[in-house]
Amino acid sequence: MPYIRETILTTVDAAGAVHIAPLGIIAEGEFWIIAPFRPSKTLDNLVATGMAIANLTDDPLIFAGCLTGRKDWPLLPVEGCPVPRLEAALAHDVLTVEDVAEDATRPRFRCRVSASATHAPFTGLNRARAAILEAAILVSRLHMLPAEKIEAEIAYLNIAIEKTAGDRERQAWYWLMERIIAHLATLEA
Ligand SMILES: Cc1cc2nc3c(=O)[nH]c(=O)nc-3n(C[C@H](O)[C@H](O)[C@H](O)COP(=O)(O)O)c2cc1C
Repeated sequence: MPYIRETILTTVDAAGAVHIAPLGIIAEGEFWIIAPFRPSKTLDNLVATGMAIANLTDDPLIFAGCLTGRKDWPLLPVEGCPVPRLEAALAHDVLTVEDVAEDATRPRFRCRVSASATHAPFTGLNRARAAILEAAILVSRLHMLPAEKIEAEIAYLNIAIEKTAGDRERQAWYWLMERIIAHLATLEA
């Protein structure tokens, strides 16, 4: 399997309206592949403009927020690029689509990095943040998973939350748990 970086992608539509979504971008030599499942606003915007910004952030609230309907995160303009970046990005890459491998389920947009910048220092790994990333991915796949699998994953990830979370991580975990509990309730009903 290739290396994948978990990013928050910012894109814009033809009218300039911004869309924010977490997506894993896939390494392919000097290129990065963006592979959105249909239907996807990110996909529509990539087709419309051929550009995205990969925001590299370790902010757990943004990953958890995007998966729970909280997409209004502060943005900043990027010189020479119509797509803004997240204020919270530690660094960003401007991605320009080179070509597209069409697919009925999951097309692959091969992108080159046309500019990059660093904004803030990375302050180190944290187990709770890693657990929130996993839980956010779990939330994006709830419709495909049985209740036992969801409960087992949450029980495991909760260990890192209990041991290493600060306030932002606890808030992010709470948002994700609200969504998961509501989903599990629909399975029991
Ligand atoms: C860490 C992370 C990585 C994700 N990677 C992908 C991805 O590669 N492709 C995809 O379609 N969705 C991915 N998702 C789910 C999308 O964020 C979510 O489905 C999103 O709403 C995409 O649809 P949109 O472009 O319409 O916003 C990921 C979610 C998380 C939390």
